[in-house]
Amino acid sequence: MDIVEEIIRLKKEKNAIILVHNYQRSEIQDIADFLGDSLGLSRKAVKTDAKIIVFCGVRFMAETAKILSPEKMVLLPRKEAGCPMADMITAEDLRILKEKYPGAKVVSYVNTNADVKAESDICCTSANAIKVVRNIKAEKIIFTPDKNLAAYCQRFTDKEIIPWNGYCYVHEKIREEEVRLAKEKFPDALLLVHPECNTSVIDLADEVLSTSGMLNFAKKTDKKRFLIGTEEGLIYRLKKENPGKKFYTVGTAKICRNMKMTTLNDVYLSLKEERYAIKLPEDIIKFAQKALTAMLRNIYG
Ligand code: 13P
Ligand code: SF4
Repeated sequence: MDIVEEIIRLKKEKNAIILVHNYQRSEIQDIADFLGDSLGLSRKAVKTDAKIIVFCGVRFMAETAKILSPEKMVLLPRKEAGCPMADMITAEDLRILKEKYPGAKVVSYVNTNADVKAESDICCTSANAIKVVRNIKAEKIIFTPDKNLAAYCQRFTDKEIIPWNGYCYVHEKIREEEVRLAKEKFPDALLLVHPECNTSVIDLADEVLSTSGMLNFAKKTDKKRFLIGTEEGLIYRLKKENPGKKFYTVGTAKICRNMKMTTLNDVYLSLKEERYAIKLPEDIIKFAQKALTAMLRNIYG
């Protein structure tokens, strides 16, 4: 059996679409109907008229698709593929914080569990966080869960940002010393980093961008060499789409083990046996959808 052919056959038979995040394994990226960052993937989840969405990414991404398209079946091929950063804050933690700062609005990074989104006023992704923070009608903003993204947004606003103390263990592995060494080794390369990186790393960057932001930037610029400060899966796509350009990791490759769990066999079994379907309580869907729709439709009230 050719597993890729079987995936394509099952996909057609069941009217399914395969959405894939930029950090997935190369062979999973190659079978994507749509490959993108968190923002692009949520937009696609709203637009598609497929009956089934197979989400190759981590749980919060599949949950986001389900919240935005509750009538669809959303499948996460590996049920244990979570995001450790999303698990760093609970809905109860957020309720306590909201009581402490009653006038504040809550901006939650999409890298949160559905019940945390349901307690939030608006969501953001790394691609639009600055815009959301600037536009939201409040002088105090509780920002969850990423302290690094919160600190980065704080550079662009006078509003008071109250951060949660979460972080991404993958981006935290990119250290300032390693960045300095990489810059010495490739002095003509531009350094592109993800805003989940530490402040000291962001300070050394030429551009701070989401994963799709990096792809767009690399395509448009005349520059030929880049140091990529994010999860290594993105480099596969950068190289594939820009054959004349060079992309290097900052020191050793940084790997998100959760993003790399999904294999072709998991996708095949997911389509064949319709597993693992995302299920969320109706009230969580209702409130989380408000926060996600506010982001997608630019509603900042
Ligand atoms: P992007 O939205 O930039 O793709 O990032 C998602 C993510 O999980 C980063 O660690
Ligand atoms: Fe979560 Fe970091 Fe992995 Fe993204 S790279 S899914 S933030 S652990």
